Amino acid sequence: MKSTADFLKMKGSGDKIVMMTAYDFPTANMAEEAGVDIILVGDSLGMVVLGYDSTVPVTEEDMIHHGKAVRRGAKNTFLTVDMPFASYHGSTDRTLETGARIFRETGADALKLEGAGVVSDAIRTLVAAGMPVVAHLGLLPQSAGVLGGYKVQGKSAEAANRLLEEAKEVEAAGACMLVLECIPHQLAQRVSEMVAIPVIGIGAGAGTDGQVLVFHDLAGYGSHRVPKFVRQFADAGTEAQRGIQGYARAVRNGEFPSQEHQFTMKEEEAGKLYG
Ligand code: KIV
Ligand code: NA
Repeated sequence: MKSTADFLKMKGSGDKIVMMTAYDFPTANMAEEAGVDIILVGDSLGMVVLGYDSTVPVTEEDMIHHGKAVRRGAKNTFLTVDMPFASYHGSTDRTLETGARIFRETGADALKLEGAGVVSDAIRTLVAAGMPVVAHLGLLPQSAGVLGGYKVQGKSAEAANRLLEEAKEVEAAGACMLVLECIPHQLAQRVSEMVAIPVIGIGAGAGTDGQVLVFHDLAGYGSHRVPKFVRQFADAGTEAQRGIQGYARAVRNGEFPSQEHQFTMKEEEAGKLYG
């Protein structure tokens, strides 16, 4: 398994870091098999797997339940788990208890938190207790209501410079990595040059140290809304739909199950059945 030290080296040598989300055992298996560097159990779980409209309803229990399944499926891949909505903005005690529970019970290698400011204090708290933290700036889905929707962030020089300051702040707070979501590529590249920690982009252009995509988006699986910045690398949903339609058709026309899919008892035994 690669470590945070390996990711730092990759940044130094320009080897791109590959991160993707997973929420269950088989997907984690496939990611590990493909040599993905980092698996993220994102709270995008709420939208792509649980059918919510946002990440807000996702709970600590949800993150632990799915985090454990992913860990079982990828024992040798660096695992990051999102802390859910509003679970790290209150007291230090609550942040520490929630973070430690998710970290311990899922066997995660790092936790991910959205934002700076008060969240930088949370980063400091968790890191001081021994938990690596991945920061997340730019579009913050947990704060979509406050941001006025799912929009590109940091488009003006003023907003962009504010984000640069936040990036330096979360780095100083001890974050081991930074995810940048949905910002102009020029800004993402500048941030990547200005901080020493690896920067992973999503909708942030090619100038970052690595990329992250949501599994369901890259695999073309599901009926959720897919953002403009996604490239769909497979069409798993169409394949699965074909399978379901074929199954329903075959049951209805008596084609399934056929002889090869059934069990047989000896005729002499079958002859003794009642009636
Ligand atoms: O929850 C998630 O999938 C994420 C990624 C988009 C970075 O936070
Ligand atoms: Na997330």
